[in-house]
Amino acid sequence: MNGQPVRERVSDDAAAPEPAVGVGHSHAKAILLGEHTVVHGTAAIAFPLPALPVRAIARPGRSGPRAEVAAEGHFRFLAGETGEAGPPSGPRVAVEEALRRWGMTGAVVDVVVECDIPLARGLGSSAACAGAAVRAVADLYGRVLDAATLYDCVQCGEQVAHGRASGIDASAVLANGPILFHQGTARPIGITVAADLVIADTGVPGSTHEAVAGVRRTLDADPRSARRVLHRATELIGSAAADLTEGRAAELGAAMLDFQDLLAELGVSTPRIDALVTAARDAGAFGAKLTGAGFGGCVLALTATGTAPAVSAALRAAGAVRTWTVTARSLRSPAPSSTASTPDRETHP
Ligand code: MEV
Repeated sequence: MNGQPVRERVSDDAAAPEPAVGVGHSHAKAILLGEHTVVHGTAAIAFPLPALPVRAIARPGRSGPRAEVAAEGHFRFLAGETGEAGPPSGPRVAVEEALRRWGMTGAVVDVVVECDIPLARGLGSSAACAGAAVRAVADLYGRVLDAATLYDCVQCGEQVAHGRASGIDASAVLANGPILFHQGTARPIGITVAADLVIADTGVPGSTHEAVAGVRRTLDADPRSARRVLHRATELIGSAAADLTEGRAAELGAAMLDFQDLLAELGVSTPRIDALVTAARDAGAFGAKLTGAGFGGCVLALTATGTAPAVSAALRAAGAVRTWTVTARSLRSPAPSSTASTPDRETHP
């Protein structure tokens, strides 16, 4: 990733110059517990979803209009001294922060992003696109990118995308396994629980920016209730971390349901999310909750090993537009590419 720029042949003419390109990758994430409250100081637990990847390709660019037209997750943007202010986006801000740190503020870079993560579904698409883009630009210019710099650059982009970002998304889309995140620091968390996770897409995009702002308003309006909610969240995240590492699936499912109640109290659940949570429970899941910012997005259900297909089917019957299963075995393994999730058969074309 951080070695010499990759060379790409763009012409059949052997004498034609081969422009340098840089390539970077990242992937989606899912939050098990702690979204929103993590913005207000609690811990949060998340895991990477390498089955939903992002690839970015960077080339030296020319000044001119910024092109940031998203089409089915594929988009292109110019970053750097383009001579045009343009609207900020997370990936562009992240790349410009990287250029600034490298003393390359005069550079213009042209980045194409191919994002397989459904956008605005709480699966970390903005952070993952920023991470892949910064890695691609580092690759283009042969820059060594340490983990802290990459995280900081992605976080700059996330502050734009979320309004106020805790750093959980930036950490999880760059992580190789499940993490316990607290106040800017992520550490790997071991998993022994024998259960699988099913992620169900409501099909409704949710704005993280609006959801984060809404939760802030709710907490600010009633400081006493805010203290109670954050205290309860801290208890649930602590017990869930212990349940994960000590193998208590039923207790972990109960903590997820209790956390879903807190998120509903904070105003980020919706009737569609509630219906999917109920469907997962009725199909025998240990627990279920929204994952990510809410206001739409995805629901995460914890199921006994082997019952994920039945829970997935119930979620699709209740309106999920697609589901993915993350196996317990893949979550338990700390190997970089091992947290595999597989798309489930879709009944809604
Ligand atoms: C979004 O994936 C998670 C939130 O907690 C925002 C954040 O932590 O930056 C809603």
